[in-house]
Amino acid sequence: MITINHLCKTFRLRSGDVCAARDMNLDIHEGEIYGVIGYSGAGKSTLVRCINLLETPDDGEMTIDGTTVVIRSGRVFLREGGAEKPASEKQLNALRRGIGMIFQQFNLLDRSTVADNVAYPLRYTGMSRADIDARVRELLALVDLTDKADVYPSQLSGGQKQRVAIARALANRPRILLSDEATSALDPDATESILALLRDLNRKLGLTIVLITHEMSVIKAICQRVAVMEDGAVVEEGEVYDLFAHPVQPITKRFVQSASPLGKIDKMIVEGSPLLRVGPGGYLVKLLFHRDCVGDSLISDVSRRFGVNLNIVLANVEEIQGVALGGMIAAVEGAPEAVQAALDYLRDKHVSVEVIARG
Ligand SMILES: Nc1ncnc2c1ncn2[C@@H]1O[C@H](COP(=O)(O)OP(=O)(O)OP(=O)(O)O)[C@@H](O)[C@H]1O
Ligand SMILES: [Mg+2]
Repeated sequence: MITINHLCKTFRLRSGDVCAARDMNLDIHEGEIYGVIGYSGAGKSTLVRCINLLETPDDGEMTIDGTTVVIRSGRVFLREGGAEKPASEKQLNALRRGIGMIFQQFNLLDRSTVADNVAYPLRYTGMSRADIDARVRELLALVDLTDKADVYPSQLSGGQKQRVAIARALANRPRILLSDEATSALDPDATESILALLRDLNRKLGLTIVLITHEMSVIKAICQRVAVMEDGAVVEEGEVYDLFAHPVQPITKRFVQSASPLGKIDKMIVEGSPLLRVGPGGYLVKLLFHRDCVGDSLISDVSRRFGVNLNIVLANVEEIQGVALGGMIAAVEGAPEAVQAALDYLRDKHVSVEVIARG
């Protein structure tokens, strides 16, 4: 649905150049909720502003819903067949209309009612007043704000304002919705309800959503895949579940730690927590139970089968995309060969086993 190749964008300031996108590559599939996470200044907003061409990239290629845009030295071309032609403002506007966008600050018109805010993008499209009214009613129903049509934004809560912004973003029936920190200004309840709405719209309308955030809990709640951005580039990418199970880059590990008790296990290891001490001859192990082995009675099974003691120090199971991911720190004690055999047995059963310390 969105393919980005070798996208570059540098802001040239008096104080020096700021490279906000250095060779960005992404492939976002139709109908998925794709997360982009990174700390402040990583280049996330620049990326979404390039996708909807609010910002002109310096160089690169983007295919958006079947249209290929090629950018060379800040000049935008459309590729059709084998030929590249300079893109007209009209063509770019048509492309932009196919992409909805929502922001942290809602960007509503304070002096217009909710209904007028939602109607705004439909003006000058040639639609009749009656058709616009009908579409606005439909959109307000979609975001569950039918009863707020005639009130002003100042009379709404943050969550309700974001619902208005979502309705407005969907007015022209875009197939893609870009969400730039849309829940960052909301309290936890409102965040949850906006995320539930986005998930719902994704399912009901087949909407492809690119969700920018600096919170891993948001990614965990609704994204299927995620890209981790640092310093203008994607440093790690994949299924959200896999990133939680096996984060590779230090920055990804930090994000996972922030949203998962399992991540805290890593922190305890690094900090040498007294909880993680093991008796003489014992092994302290970290076990990860993936989708295909959570729920099996493996722990009591290995204890019995190999005659080892397995004491659980810390354990957690969480649900990511409806699939369980379990983690555990355990002290394993027994005859050395029995302990080895027990750990090999767990590995055979697809448990990831990491020996953290030996007593
Ligand atoms: N219009 C601009 N002019 C100059 N520099 C800019 C401009 N927009 C962004 N930058 C710079 O580009 C870099 C990336 O900014 P960007 O806003 O894309 O980051 P971000 O990941 O969205 O951060 P945040 O989480 O704070 O929103 C930053 O160093 C920023 O200062
Ligand atoms: Mg930003």
